[in-house]
Amino acid sequence: MWGGRFAAGPSAIMREINASIPFDKALWRQDIAASKAHVAMLGATGIIEAEDARTIAGGLDAVAAEYEADGVPEDWDLEDIHMTTESRLAVLIGPVAGRLHTARSRNDQVATDFRLWVRDAFDQADAGLAVLQQALVTRAGEHAGSIMPGFTHLQTAQPVTLGHHLMAYYEMTARDRSRFADARVRSNKSPLGAAALAGTGFAIDRFMTAEALGFDAPTANSLDSVSDRDFAIDYLMAAAQTSLHLSRLAEELILWASQPFGFVVLPDSLSTGSSIMPQKKNPDAAELVRGHSGRIVGALTSLMITMKGLPLAYSKDMQDDKPPVFEAAGLLTLSIAAMAGMIAGATFRTQRMRAAAELGYATATDLADWLVRQAGIPFREAHHITGSAVKLAESRGLPLDQLPLGDLQAIDARIDERVYAALSVEASVAARASHGGTAPAEVRKRVAEARLALGLED
Ligand code: ARG
Repeated sequence: MWGGRFAAGPSAIMREINASIPFDKALWRQDIAASKAHVAMLGATGIIEAEDARTIAGGLDAVAAEYEADGVPEDWDLEDIHMTTESRLAVLIGPVAGRLHTARSRNDQVATDFRLWVRDAFDQADAGLAVLQQALVTRAGEHAGSIMPGFTHLQTAQPVTLGHHLMAYYEMTARDRSRFADARVRSNKSPLGAAALAGTGFAIDRFMTAEALGFDAPTANSLDSVSDRDFAIDYLMAAAQTSLHLSRLAEELILWASQPFGFVVLPDSLSTGSSIMPQKKNPDAAELVRGHSGRIVGALTSLMITMKGLPLAYSKDMQDDKPPVFEAAGLLTLSIAAMAGMIAGATFRTQRMRAAAELGYATATDLADWLVRQAGIPFREAHHITGSAVKLAESRGLPLDQLPLGDLQAIDARIDERVYAALSVEASVAARASHGGTAPAEVRKRVAEARLALGLED
């Protein structure tokens, strides 16, 4: 394709290091679509004969049909998907195929194909996350009143509801979806027609090709158009953030599924056994979601480092942009689906959660709050009094609400029998009805809003 100025062909090493076809063949649909838009524009503007444009478009359809049926052939001599398609087109329709590359370069071609591919990846992430969110809000609705211990420092802190905990992940994934959506809007511009780097002397219509490919507009600067991989980095940033959220949820499921916690039984369909220990059921899917986040963050790092020192415009380093994005997108799709399956299929052991919430003096803050409200004691002093009560209860091996009233009054005379009503875990969660708090009524409100946002209610 470029042999004109060369006396010798490339060495075997050159062929191998140069070839991107092993991975960029994944762009074949986008490559055909972009070429069809380009050739239709060349015909419509009279840059090539309308008849030739029709022949080339028909030839591209025939190449696409071959790829669909037999896959994309991998010939290193043809370097990449763009040359593979063009060379096959020449075999099928003859020398007229050579007119397709008028007023374009592989530099704007690959930028266009890759943007189209990443655009689909944005949509795929969004659709997957919507399914995960549906599972989260469904389970949260079922468990709006199921009490579990809430932790800080992984130490029992205050009782919360399982529904509240699950809805925390709904909020995270909602932000993830909005990140993908923002990035999609920013990236949906067509680089096609930037040509090699400087634009072209042919009277092309970039608005026409942009529209045909579903872009909002053509890009505004030809140098930027062929140099920009922000859209792919934006995708990976949003993917990395999403994977961090998934990884934290995975970590919690792994903890909760362990015997000392015993808060959840994960579905058999997303667990594995041990080849040596017959009793084991391992949360492998959750562990792999946690593991995959490392690779997704690695993909982001990889592409950022590839790009960081490149002068304008295109450099061949940029060919390495695709493998990290392809890998991360595959891992992300799987991770989201696995997580949706685990949440939908989990059996939550609410008795054990409830019992665990009783341990660790989770309602100590409620005693302090009661002292503030009922006895008008400043919170700092109430905190100190409560500390003494916890110390006493601990030394007796009793939960707070089983300390005799006399003992509580010996610590502070202002305490009376009404305090016991505030010390149950039910009273504790019900009291936290501030906006966004864990009270079951409040959680039900958030679940209803989320269901509306997801289109789950009429
Ligand atoms: N396979 C190349 C890539 O993915 C296409 C662009 C080649 N451009 C060039 N000037 N050699 O980046």
